[in-house]
Amino acid sequence: MRVLVTGAGGQLGHDVADVLAGAVPPGGRPASSSVPVAEEVVAADRARLDVADRGDVIAAFEALRPDLVVHCGAWTAVDACEADPGRAFTVNAVGTRNVAEAARRHGAHLVYVSTDYVFDGTSDRPYVEWDRTNPLSVYGRSKLGGEMELDPSATVVRTSWVCGFHGANMVRTILRLASNPGTLRFVDDQRGSPSFTADLAGALVLLGRERLPGVFHLTNDGVTTWFGFARAVLEAAGEDAGRVEAIATGDLDPPRPAPRPANSALDNQAWRSLGMPMLPAWEDALERLVGAFAAESVPGS
Ligand SMILES: NC(=O)c1ccc[n+]([C@@H]2O[C@H](COP(=O)([O-])OP(=O)(O)OC[C@H]3O[C@@H](n4cnc5c(N)ncnc54)[C@H](OP(=O)(O)O)[C@@H]3O)[C@@H](O)[C@H]2O)c1
Repeated sequence: MRVLVTGAGGQLGHDVADVLAGAVPPGGRPASSSVPVAEEVVAADRARLDVADRGDVIAAFEALRPDLVVHCGAWTAVDACEADPGRAFTVNAVGTRNVAEAARRHGAHLVYVSTDYVFDGTSDRPYVEWDRTNPLSVYGRSKLGGEMELDPSATVVRTSWVCGFHGANMVRTILRLASNPGTLRFVDDQRGSPSFTADLAGALVLLGRERLPGVFHLTNDGVTTWFGFARAVLEAAGEDAGRVEAIATGDLDPPRPAPRPANSALDNQAWRSLGMPMLPAWEDALERLVGAFAAESVPGS
């Protein structure tokens, strides 16, 4: 199997490429075997393949002729997207259109990674795959635009609150903030399911290898708020969780440009219905990631 990974310079793309090559990503659970899943893996970061450039995408597929493409490339700066909707839609929606077109031409199976931010957060329970979407932000709308570009045979994986070893994420931010004295303030009125790339990557590869069509919600198990998450990060790092203060979204000063759903917890119903085990509890995955940071002496950890 030949596999193309887009956005391979990012958190998730990096770990997907590791799993395809038979390696355990940093913070991953030890594998019982480490057999490469693919004969050839092209892990393309943005410099190597800009998905917004249709010609580049067509040429990359001509050269590689992949059997599978795991499309992790996206403009993920949620607040910056609000100020530049043109760029958000060009990368996240048109970029996905380009990848879908090239995959169709070559009969490659496409796995597209989408987001919990396609929902408006008004549900009083975790969202299932068949719930009505209604994104609040430009980022959410552009990612939903990407979903709309796909053939029914493609796999869509919606995930949330993504953290991994490679790249920027909230675990790193919280550890950096905690390395300075003082109180850390986090909102206690936004709920979601933290998801860790070291666990998510294997599930994405499995869905792609089996060419399973349709929408899947995939997150680590459990739900928390950003306040609960920040406390858990400090606890995992052996710091005083009492330094974290709960605030409301309305107390953020200045307010963040992009509105976030109050509840974006995702029920992994389609995955469960396949008889697949849930991904590990988010607290367990967090401990492993903080351990991997400590082992590498990542600043702030
Ligand atoms: N992060 C989250 O909390 C979260 C939550 C839900 C869903 N997701 C989805 O999960 C997927 C992976 O996200 P992530 O957390 O790994 O984000 P990430 O670390 O920001 O990685 C995304 C990668 O895509 C690259 N990229 C940007 N524009 C591109 C383009 N035009 N062509 C090709 N690559 C491009 C970025 O490169 P540069 O850094 O060079 O721009 C970056 O390396 C994305 O589809 C995202 O929408 C993420």
